[in-house]
Amino acid sequence: MSSPAISLKNLHTFAIETVAEKVVFAESSQDILVAWRECQQRNLPFLLLGEGSNILFLESFNGIIVVNRLKGITVNEDDKSWHVQAGAGENWHALITYTLQQGINGLENLALIPGCVGSAPIQNIGAYGVELKDVCEWVDVLDLQSGLVTRFTAAQCQFGYRDSIFKHQLQHGHVIISVGFNLPKQWQPVMSYGDLAKLDPATVTAQQIFDSVCQMRRSKLPDPAITGNAGSFFKNPVINAAQAANLLSQYPQAPHYPQGNGGIKLAAGWLIDQCGLKGYRIGGAAVHQQQALVLINAENASAQDIVALAHEVRQRVGERFNVWLEPEVRFIGADGEKNAVEIIS
Ligand code: FAD
Ligand code: EPU
Repeated sequence: MSSPAISLKNLHTFAIETVAEKVVFAESSQDILVAWRECQQRNLPFLLLGEGSNILFLESFNGIIVVNRLKGITVNEDDKSWHVQAGAGENWHALITYTLQQGINGLENLALIPGCVGSAPIQNIGAYGVELKDVCEWVDVLDLQSGLVTRFTAAQCQFGYRDSIFKHQLQHGHVIISVGFNLPKQWQPVMSYGDLAKLDPATVTAQQIFDSVCQMRRSKLPDPAITGNAGSFFKNPVINAAQAANLLSQYPQAPHYPQGNGGIKLAAGWLIDQCGLKGYRIGGAAVHQQQALVLINAENASAQDIVALAHEVRQRVGERFNVWLEPEVRFIGADGEKNAVEIIS
């Protein structure tokens, strides 16, 4: 194929040099459908991209990348709630800033998470005690084959920890074009996590929570504008009660969080840290010094450096704790998504 190759370096936060045959910036559903049909006609792979903050490109992409830039925010209200509707291509953090400026609370714990509004439901983004599922009312989905839009209620989205229907039944051939939020006027602050517990529940404001979250995040997480990364590289593993009892008898200090379904969530960052891997480096890739769960592009890393480092981290943690980490980051090969666990095993 002798097509011009477009650099993807500035379109994903790991900032690794790689290319695609074509990149389209879509401002409407129609733009997305036109690109999709071109892929069908030319038998090319199709990939939708938000801000590329949860992606690792393993190699050049042999098809068309559609960058989601569907805009627009509207606000309606009833007695109980604000109903906010945002185009999938709106920046997530900018939406939070906007709602707080309008006096609408409820998104503040999710401040500073990179990416687009339309990507937020896919892995049910979460931080500091709140997940997208707690604020999401519905998700509008474009079926690329039929061109029809269907509204999925939050319940229909099957949200779980870093999971939703958009990673399963609706992974292919479907694009999120808009998200609706239900933000109760009777605001309930969530102050269970980290430094938020130090705030005074009697006087706390959403702006204080927002500021505190931003401060905690800036102190731990690398800024992708300076250091390439995709946030937590691995998911926090959820193990069963028997395995947890065994592990905690050996490591009583291990952070652990009982889940509703009987599983116990462990802190992958702690497990990696215990293996002495902070700062560990392979080629240009490194384990972040302040947060071991984040792998960084320290110096001109290749995708192969990141994969080799992820393999080493998974291996060391697995051998020591018999807990096998799985990537949160999505791996994209020449023709589309690849199985990330298989690649780093
Ligand atoms: P992308 O990386 O562009 O896309 C992610 C996946 O979704 C891809 O498979 C893509 O094909 C698909 N996709 C994108 N848009 C659509 C669409 N409209 N319809 C269908 N499919 C689509 N995540 C958390 O949950 N909590 C955190 O605290 C957090 N902190 C982070 C901190 C840093 C520094 C970084 C770099 C990342 C962090 N992340 C966090 C991960 C990331 O921000 C989220 O996963 C975010 O939702 C990704 O948005 P994006 O627009 O960049 O998605
Ligand atoms: N820890 C260490 N060493 C480390 C890192 C963490 O000991 O190097 C310990 C901490 O001291 C703490 C525990 O591990 O006791 C958990 O750490 P932290 O509070 O930083 O949260 P996390 O589990 O590492 C998760 C999410 C983040 C989210 C934060 C805040 C996942 C995979 N990650 O990180 O989401 O921002 O909680 O809620 O669930 C992301 O998904 O990309 C992401 C950044």
